[in-house]
Amino acid sequence: MTQEDADAARSRISTAIDRSACADADLVVEAVPEILDLKLSIFSELDGICKPDCILATNTSSISISEIAAATSRPSKVIGMHFMNPVPIMKLVEVINGKETSEDVTATVLSAAEKMGKIPLMCNDSPGFVSNRILCPMINEAILTLQEGVAEPDAIDGIMKLGMNHPIGPLALSDLIGNDTVLHIMNVLHEGMGDDKYAPAPLLIEMVDEGKLGRKSGQGFYDYS
Ligand SMILES: NC(=O)c1ccc[n+]([C@@H]2O[C@H](COP(=O)([O-])OP(=O)(O)OC[C@H]3O[C@@H](n4cnc5c(N)ncnc54)[C@H](O)[C@@H]3O)[C@@H](O)[C@H]2O)c1
Repeated sequence: MTQEDADAARSRISTAIDRSACADADLVVEAVPEILDLKLSIFSELDGICKPDCILATNTSSISISEIAAATSRPSKVIGMHFMNPVPIMKLVEVINGKETSEDVTATVLSAAEKMGKIPLMCNDSPGFVSNRILCPMINEAILTLQEGVAEPDAIDGIMKLGMNHPIGPLALSDLIGNDTVLHIMNVLHEGMGDDKYAPAPLLIEMVDEGKLGRKSGQGFYDYS
């Protein structure tokens, strides 16, 4: 990117720490931590602040869109817009309709994602949607494999990278996502699916309790300090 392009891009972005800055927005994408009560309170607040035709999207990785939508008086304008990490590199946006999301809102969000240079793919509202229904149990299994002493982190990640052609190993990916976020997602899957096969690995719970959240805390399955 040239300096000129970078400056032009920056000039189109403004930041604020007061939620009232959302009052005139056409589309809000919420990205607070993966905690149901927090999402519900933010959506209830945004519903009061944002203009009536504003679309309220959530970047949630696993929580029910319909449940979040129920915290607002505009469930037809609430939708899941799940960006992948790291966002500048990953093309996918997983678009999730809640029970009451209107067709117009889905069409607008698909087109907004395309304008951002992303490839949107749709799915229905179910714990973890498609991406994390499949990804997080794999990461959890890698953590169980480590916990049981089957192999060291480098070997687990190396086997999955070289053997399965994954661009990053599951333990390094958990550190990138944030081990707290992975734990929140496993809890949503475990409770939502009602099946113990989704129970979070004890080592994952222990690491989050100890503040070993991955890259963002400097320590996870690997040391980033
Ligand atoms: N980490 C990932 O790889 C990833 C990928 C896709 C989607 N997500 C989803 O994005 C959301 C955020 O996850 P994250 O990993 O970035 O979490 P994070 O904990 O790294 O960041 C959350 C941000 O929310 C802010 N925040 C916390 N409480 C707030 C409040 N009450 N009001 C306003 N801001 C508040 C924090 O200051 C922080 O900047 C979650 O729903 C998560 O599931 C995460």
